[in-house]
Amino acid sequence: MPNIAYYSVTGQTRRFIKKTGLEAYEIIDADPFYEMGRPFILVVPSYDDDMMDSVIDFLSYKTNKQNIQGVVGSGNRNFNSLFNHTGRDIAKGLHVPVLYEYEFNGTDHDVEEFKKVVNTIGVK
Ligand SMILES: Cc1cc2nc3c(=O)[nH]c(=O)nc-3n(C[C@H](O)[C@H](O)[C@H](O)COP(=O)(O)O)c2cc1C
Repeated sequence: MPNIAYYSVTGQTRRFIKKTGLEAYEIIDADPFYEMGRPFILVVPSYDDDMMDSVIDFLSYKTNKQNIQGVVGSGNRNFNSLFNHTGRDIAKGLHVPVLYEYEFNGTDHDVEEFKKVVNTIGVK
């Protein structure tokens, strides 16, 4: 069972997760109501808040809010102060840490750092 949940609109986050080789659950718009049922890390790109409804639905479902351990956020640094605002806002709202930040589908370095985070948190 995966201990990573992610959301992707244009496929960059999906590509990043695929590069890690780790099992992960993809939050989908058609049915975001899935209970992780165990501690997990959320990986999200940044968009306007109204594009993140499925992630909010997912987080609000059953025990998901209690089980989230932290957020890994992606985005584009050209957004300056709004870089990874979605990940930061979710982490702040749920009182969990931002564990890692990267751009687009991540570099090889990002993949390695992400795996370290997953190992440290122990939700692999
Ligand atoms: C309409 C739109 C709005 C975006 N807004 C932000 C933003 O506010 N902050 C940021 O860091 N990145 C922003 N991005 C960049 C995406 O978060 C980034 O490309 C991410 O890797 C996309 O992941 P995905 O392909 O998995 O959806 C935006 C991209 C688009 C297309």
